[in-house]
Formats: sequence, structure tokens, C-alpha cells
Amino acid sequence: MNLPDLKKAKIRSDKPSLYKKVENIHQDLFKNEKFFLKTYGCQMNVHDSEQIRAILENLGMSETDNLEDARVVVLNTCAIRENAHDKVFGYLGRVKHLKKDNPNIIVAIGGCMSQEENVVKEILQRHPYINIVFGTHNINELGSLIINATNNKQDIEVYSEEGCIYEGVNYSRDSKITAWVNIMYGCDKFCTYCIVPYTRGKERSRKIEEIIKEVENLKRQGYYEVTLLGQNVNAYGNDLKLGYDFAKLLEEVAKTGIKRIRFVTSHPWNFTDEMIEVISKYDNIMPYIHLPLQSGSDRILKLMGRRYTKQEYLDLVAKLRNKIKDVTITTDIIVGFPGESEEDFLDTLEVVDKVKYDGAYTFIYSPREGTPASKMLDNISLEEKEERLKRLNERINNYSKESNEKLVGKVEEVLILGISEKDNNKLYGYTKGMKLVNVIAEKDAIGKLIDVKITDAKSFSLDGEALKVNN
Ligand code: SAH
Ligand code: SF4
Ligand code: F3S
Repeated sequence: MNLPDLKKAKIRSDKPSLYKKVENIHQDLFKNEKFFLKTYGCQMNVHDSEQIRAILENLGMSETDNLEDARVVVLNTCAIRENAHDKVFGYLGRVKHLKKDNPNIIVAIGGCMSQEENVVKEILQRHPYINIVFGTHNINELGSLIINATNNKQDIEVYSEEGCIYEGVNYSRDSKITAWVNIMYGCDKFCTYCIVPYTRGKERSRKIEEIIKEVENLKRQGYYEVTLLGQNVNAYGNDLKLGYDFAKLLEEVAKTGIKRIRFVTSHPWNFTDEMIEVISKYDNIMPYIHLPLQSGSDRILKLMGRRYTKQEYLDLVAKLRNKIKDVTITTDIIVGFPGESEEDFLDTLEVVDKVKYDGAYTFIYSPREGTPASKMLDNISLEEKEERLKRLNERINNYSKESNEKLVGKVEEVLILGISEKDNNKLYGYTKGMKLVNVIAEKDAIGKLIDVKITDAKSFSLDGEALKVNN
């Protein structure tokens, strides 16, 4: 048994990261059995679940989307806000019920919530039916933990270490068209509200040659798009001290010739001119930047530990718009950070008015145990926070509709990913600027880049008609 420890998770040393080659266990112990996998949280977790899926398939199981059919249930959790926590424990109620009828079911909890001390305490005290708790640092051990769990004892294996770098990971990917590629793990920014540095360890970059090898492999397999993943991609390479950075990596990935490249997330601090240069130089790097603002108030930005001012953020946006043709910019914003006044909030609205975002994820601040902000005096009522969120969302939605309307009548290249959820007669895909388009097209366009004439615009999507398949 290894329990999470937030104090240990805070430590950052100068020690070089450890490389580990992952051993993939192939054993048909669970042949003809099914697993159910549910994922919460960010792209990083979505990608981790592709590793979890490969591990479970290697044990002989196949996936089911029906919880009732599963022998093994895995929840890959997120800790970013309190409601993520509530959702998982709500869901566990159903699992507990199932396990009463069938004690053979193996329940495993992984992801960022597993890295939290209070969550694991709660599991120990109140959820004895959970067999396995594993963390973000030992996903590769899940196979053996499941094999051991057939003895029905509770096993908690969570490490609060700085973390290492895994190579040779097997992924069973969600898509055959677009793929996630981890370029680095962890985060050293310690924004005062954020739990991620504690749940994911220190910033560790994969070597450039390993990343290029993975992208080339994906290209060979017919993938059209890769998304380079890191909590803060601008920090890529710093820890390696090998003389290369994110701009260099991006350029090398572009040179592989894969059709589309994007990256998340880039911090507004240290977004270098070289990065902008490379993005504007290569056609296969999508002109799409997710640039979290969090707040437009200098006072709040300082309390958040974000390392930029409102003006510096606006200057960066101006540079991006200037240098990158047709760039789309999206963001994350938190309202109701401890002590946020109406004046502070108006500063945020002012930035929104100036940047006119293409889209945004907006959140009410949620205190996370162990973070500095959770100890700050939070004297704004929930009512006030909800009202600010509503005003912010109205403003954001107007601008995203406005930016979508500018595309009506134009022809956009769209990567078609599948059948539209809203209308089965249509397909859906994304423009180079990551705008969702519902398209009237033949089904064989799925997995292809097609030219689409945009016919209508809404706040969150576009409508269009296929003109021609490009390849
Ligand atoms: N590494 C990414 C963010 C990951 S978390 C980055 O720095 O941009 C995704 C978003 O969740 C953050 O951008 C922030 O807007 C939001 N978030 C993080 N912690 C939060 C908290 N305690 N309360 C509310 N929102 C939070
Ligand atoms: Fe959290 Fe800040 Fe790191 Fe993003 S950069 S993961 S918000 S600490
Ligand atoms: Fe959530 Fe962890 Fe991602 S806290 S947002 S799953 S890094």
C-alpha cells in the first residue's frame, strides 16, 4: 500500500528525470470478459485512458459501454474542480450497487483524484468495495494490479513523486484519424488555484527523437492530425538541457509532413517569437492557439501566480493576430477567484471585448485542498459568482458567434471525423482553426480533408456543404 502525500508532491529537485521503458503485459487471463472505462477531465486524461484501454485489452478483455456487462470497471478521474469529485463519487454509487449482486467485479480508480490525500482517505473509510486505487505515475502497473485484485483485497498504490518519463507505451487509440502525442508530463508553474502540479509531478520532456518517431509512425498508419500534449508546452525541453525548445520541436514535427498539427496548452508567459515564427511558416501547423487568460485583472493575475499582466497578454494576442494568418484564439477563464471585486471582473470583460475570442471554457473558482489559494479569504457569494459567469458567457458566446459568422460564404478545409451527433444525415469535422462544422457530404468523406462551403453560423458550430475531397 502506498498513499498519496501532497507535501511530497510539491517537491521539485534538480535531479534529471528517470526514463522507463514500459513492459506491456500480454496475458489472456480475462479472455471473453469485458471492461468498462470512464474518463473525466482534460486531454491528458483522455490520452491516458488510451493507455489504460491497451492494458485491459492485453489482458484479453474487450470494451463495453454497458456498465452492467463489465468484469473490470476503471474510472479515470479528474481533480481540477470540486464538481469533478462529486461526479465520480455519484457514479461510484451505481458501481457499489452492481458489486453487491456480483462480487467478482473489479473496481479500479485512477487519474488525478487518486493523487489527492483526502480522496484516498475517503475511499479507505467509506468505499471498501473499490479494489484498486492507482495514480498518474503508475498507470503502467494497472495490469498487474488487476491480476492481483482477483483476491478481492483493497490495494492502494499511489506515488507522489516527481515522476519519470515512459517510452514504449502501448496505446489503444480512440481515433484512426487524429492522435494525441505526449510531449511532456507534469507542471512546475504552481498557479495558486491549481492542483495539477501536485497530481502530475514535475515538468519532464520526452526526447525530440522519440516524439518524431511516434509522429512518423502515426503518419505511416494513416493519421492526419496530431495534437502535441503538455500542461504548458512552452516549457518543453527546459528540463532536458539539450539545447532545444518547443519551437524547435514544433518545426521538426512540421517537417514530418503529417497533414495537421496542433498543441495544447500554451501558457501566455514565455510564448516565444520563435514559436510564432514556426507556426506562421508551416502550413501543416494549425492556426489555432488555446491561450488561457484566467483573469484580466493584474491584481488577480498576481494572486494567481500567472506571471503576466493584462497588457502583456493583449500584446501577445496582437502579435499572434499580426503574424499568424486567420488565427483563432480560445481561452480559459476563472471567475470568483478569492477577493475578485466587480472592478477586477470588469477587467476580465475588457480583455474579452478586446480579444473577441473564438471560444472559451469558463469556470467558477473551486478551492482545491493543498493549494495556496484555498487558504485565501473567499468572501464572494456563490450567487455573485454565478451571476459573473452568466455575464461572461453571454459576452463570450456573442463573440464566438460573430467570429463564426465571418466564415459564412467562405470555403474552409475540414477534416471529417464522423457522423454528426445532432443530425445523422450529416458528417462533422473541424476547420484548420478548430471550428466544428456539420457538413452535408457522402459518408466516404470520413477520415478525409474536404473543401466545405460554409452556409450558416451558430455560437458553437458551423453548417456547410462539401465541395470536393482533397485527397
Ligand atoms: N495547463 C493548463 C490548464 C489545465 S486546467 C493551463 O495552464 O492552461 C484547465 C483549466 O481549468 C485552467 O485553465 C483553469 O481555467 C481551470 N481551473 C484550474 N484550476 C481551477 C480551480 N481551482 N477552479 C476553477 N477552475 C480551475
Ligand atoms: Fe495548473 Fe497553471 Fe500548471 Fe496550468 S500552468 S496546469 S493552470 S499550475
Ligand atoms: Fe483534471 Fe488532472 Fe487533467 S486534474 S484537468 S485530469 S491534469
